[in-house]
Amino acid sequence: MADKVADLSGDDRAKRIAELKAKMQAAAQKAKAAAEHAPEQPAAQTKPQPAPTAEAVQEAPRQEVVAEALAVKEGAPAGGSPTNGSSGNGAAAKAEVLSAEKIAAPAPAFVEESPEEKARKEMNRREFLTYAWGGLLGLVTLQSAVGLFFFMMPRFKEGEFGGIFRMGPESALPATDAPPQPETTGKFWLVNTADQGPLALYMVCTHLGCLYKWEQANNRFECPCHGSKFTREGYYIEGPAPRSLDRFEVTIEEGEVLVNTGRRILGAPAAESPARVIPA
Ligand code: FES
Repeated sequence: MADKVADLSGDDRAKRIAELKAKMQAAAQKAKAAAEHAPEQPAAQTKPQPAPTAEAVQEAPRQEVVAEALAVKEGAPAGGSPTNGSSGNGAAAKAEVLSAEKIAAPAPAFVEESPEEKARKEMNRREFLTYAWGGLLGLVTLQSAVGLFFFMMPRFKEGEFGGIFRMGPESALPATDAPPQPETTGKFWLVNTADQGPLALYMVCTHLGCLYKWEQANNRFECPCHGSKFTREGYYIEGPAPRSLDRFEVTIEEGEVLVNTGRRILGAPAAESPARVIPA
């Protein structure tokens, strides 16, 4: 070998490295060709020489390149100044070594996967996707079930506005001509009537939301805000209210009167009220 990398610089150094790389490639091709032709050698030879493997052929130039690069590295002083003045500073020498080792390192052999291995990996992927979709579906189902459960649950407790009010046995209701009884917590007037049974009239006026009052002297409800008037049964009589009084649903279960303040029944339009006073 005429020149070493350590003694060269500039274009000569690059040229020398290129030569070494070409040499390595040629050696690799030669080893490959030798390995391919090795089984064709006649078996009658007295002592057949084993064909050099690709690794062995590649290893020789690799060792040569690394040895030259290491020589450059060892030739550089600790302070970074070259001893022979031709190979740059110490950092450049280290880079040269690393580069040379990288070039000379044999490429990892490609190992093709067997069909069984490919099938196993494919199965693992499918299993993962199956489990992922199953988990997602289960999560969505659980979320829907929880939402439905809370939707079905009564939102108001018994005895608070929006919930059920137990008004006692039907036999204990006030007389059909007795004054309405206020239930302020439930916001309704409890009225017992002869033809419709017990009624629960919402305490809020259907005009603009004032709280109307029971006027015993006039035997009717009267709103203090704008003067709307309603019968004992909640029918519109006169005033600016657009309809009769609203009611809550009343049921009798096992002889007990229940008022559901969560179900409001709107009053009929004022024009349909049988108690409406038609101005002359
Ligand atoms: Fe009752 Fe206007 S709010 S009449």
